[in-house]
Amino acid sequence: MNMNILNKDNSVLNNFIYEIRDENIQKDSLRFRTNLERIGQLMAFELSKTLKFKTIEVKTPLGISPVNIIDEQIVIASILRAGLPLHNGFLSVFDKAENAFVSAYRKYIDSVHFDIHVEYISAPNTKDKTLILCDPMLATGGSMERSYKALLSHGEPKSVHIVSIIATQQAIEHLQKTMPMDKTILWLAAVDEKLNNHAYIVPGIGDAGDLAFGEKID
Ligand code: PRP
Ligand code: URA
Repeated sequence: MNMNILNKDNSVLNNFIYEIRDENIQKDSLRFRTNLERIGQLMAFELSKTLKFKTIEVKTPLGISPVNIIDEQIVIASILRAGLPLHNGFLSVFDKAENAFVSAYRKYIDSVHFDIHVEYISAPNTKDKTLILCDPMLATGGSMERSYKALLSHGEPKSVHIVSIIATQQAIEHLQKTMPMDKTILWLAAVDEKLNNHAYIVPGIGDAGDLAFGEKID
């Protein structure tokens, strides 16, 4: 599985990662959502360099210019809730993309154990298209795997780009075992050390869905 870890190179991306991690700055939920979007835009730019392009001619007021444009049918999919701002960042870059949404959430049995529930999918036909699957957190990797498998009911994509801001090594290994090796590409902004007893990423950022949209009750 091809993997890109974007914070290995210094860029403005690291400033945005700093702001979503900082325990004080992240409390400003408007800023938090905007930072997830901005990270999405930067990650979309990096990802775009690996897509297929075709040359067309464009007529300007003064002449004709050749230009290379993206030649792939893209579907951006996100995992509710926390994937939404990242999704918006991608959609503002790939503005012709189709869109899909999957609801996957942890239902806790006790303070440590949980099942992942996938209850809702809204998606176009994804057969032979380029699927970009966004979720800011890859903790165990379970939500991502379950969401991808649920989306297969709408057609087998040609390639799958998994986009996440903070991932753990455990999640990467989980996806290496469960995703199709030959056509999955991982795009991560940063890889963190470990999970705590509640399967939260350490140091991570905390609960991404709550930071973006507020606390929820069962
Ligand atoms: C978070 C996050 C991922 C998932 C990651 O969602 O956005 O979807 O946890 O954990 P995993 O890799 O162990 O599956 P959460 O279940 O908290 O739902 P929310 O976005 O609605 O808050
Ligand atoms: N979901 C989150 O929002 N944060 C984590 O660290 C793990 C799962």
